[in-house]
Amino acid sequence: MATLKEKRTCGQRCEDFGHFIWNSDNGTFMGRTPEKWVYISLYYVAFYVVMTALFSLAIWVLMYTLDPYAPDYQDRLQSPGVMVWPDTYGEEDVEISYNTSDKTSVTKMSNILHKFLKPYNDTTQHECNYHNCTKGKYFVQKTFSAPHHTKWSCPFTQSMLGPCSGLEDPTFGYNSTKPCVVIKMNRIINFLPSNHTDLPPYVNCTILEGHSNVENIEYFPDRGVMDLSYFPYYGKLAQPTYVNPLVAVRFNLVKDKNAKLECRVVSDKITYEHYHLPYEGKVIFYLKAVQ
Ligand SMILES: *[C@@H]1O[C@H](CO)[C@@H](O)[C@H](O)[C@H]1NC(C)=O
Ligand SMILES: *[C@@H]1O[C@H](CO)[C@@H](O)[C@H](O)[C@H]1NC(C)=O
Ligand SMILES: *[C@@H]1O[C@H](CO)[C@@H](O)[C@H](O)[C@H]1NC(C)=O
Ligand SMILES: *[C@@H]1O[C@H](CO)[C@@H](O)[C@H](O)[C@H]1NC(C)=O
Ligand SMILES: *[C@@H]1O[C@H](CO)[C@@H](O)[C@H](O)[C@H]1NC(C)=O
Ligand SMILES: *[C@@H]1O[C@H](CO)[C@@H](O)[C@H](O)[C@H]1NC(C)=O
Repeated sequence: MATLKEKRTCGQRCEDFGHFIWNSDNGTFMGRTPEKWVYISLYYVAFYVVMTALFSLAIWVLMYTLDPYAPDYQDRLQSPGVMVWPDTYGEEDVEISYNTSDKTSVTKMSNILHKFLKPYNDTTQHECNYHNCTKGKYFVQKTFSAPHHTKWSCPFTQSMLGPCSGLEDPTFGYNSTKPCVVIKMNRIINFLPSNHTDLPPYVNCTILEGHSNVENIEYFPDRGVMDLSYFPYYGKLAQPTYVNPLVAVRFNLVKDKNAKLECRVVSDKITYEHYHLPYEGKVIFYLKAVQ
């Protein structure tokens, strides 16, 4: 049990407090000698100096490691996704179905492709990306030697898609049973698709359902290759005029004229079997023509 404190007057209390502030008997100020107070102050000064230094160091390291030309937070994707145009959706999947004899259907499909290929206009590409790129080799750039302190981007023109460019045949084959689709692989900053410097990624389309309905598959550019000079991609700020390399694929539909297809970008660093990422490295779509 606590012992009962003797009752004290207010004056006594004030006196006690005065003694606490300055005790002349043993020369303490607020319970400590001035000498001790100096040590305590020095301790806190040193403590805050060290804390400030640590904090500044952390900020400095953070600023130093931030690359102004790359986003601070990138998708944790290690392997790029693949997309197909015309990007018309059915219930869930991409369903490219059209009517060869219906003008609105043909126009709808070809307009999607014309719009998609706008940045690839030959004139635009020759004006914006006039650097002479060496084909078949990664275009590694350590310096910012292009105008406005940027890096060069290699041109990819619509005409490289040959018969699927929309230049000779503005319907892209949608007025017939030989339609073209365009395959694009998403960009990933600093991604190199192959560790072999002589093996470029290429598109390989396979028929999943309706084998007897597809007679022939053609690739443009030749063999469906995405040239290595389009890699690596350094980001929007570093390469403002960058365009993804494309591959056009032309299918010759026969018989029932519908098929389920899979187009995969094949390369040793591109994975395609990720269960939760169905568009990683490949795209699956339905192609259906009616007459
Ligand atoms: C295709 O279009 C033509 C012309 O518009 C039309 O007569 C025909 O019924 C259409 N076919 C189908 C299966 O919708
Ligand atoms: C490409 O751009 C030029 C100039 O802007 C234009 O004259 C030409 O028609 C365009 N070509 C295509 C296929 O859109
Ligand atoms: C690219 O090569 C062509 C033909 O070899 C040449 O005429 C042109 O000046 C070159 N362009 C640049 C930017 O070096
Ligand atoms: C489709 O259109 C192109 C260009 O207009 C033409 O050359 C081709 O003959 C047409 N094909 C059919 C089957 O009508
Ligand atoms: C390239 O990568 C693959 C898979 O990542 C590996 O199996 C192969 O040994 C590598 N080749 C070279 C030359 O590094
Ligand atoms: C394309 O993929 C199919 C099925 O995976 C395979 O049999 C074929 O060899 C591949 N073609 C090329 C050129 O890689």
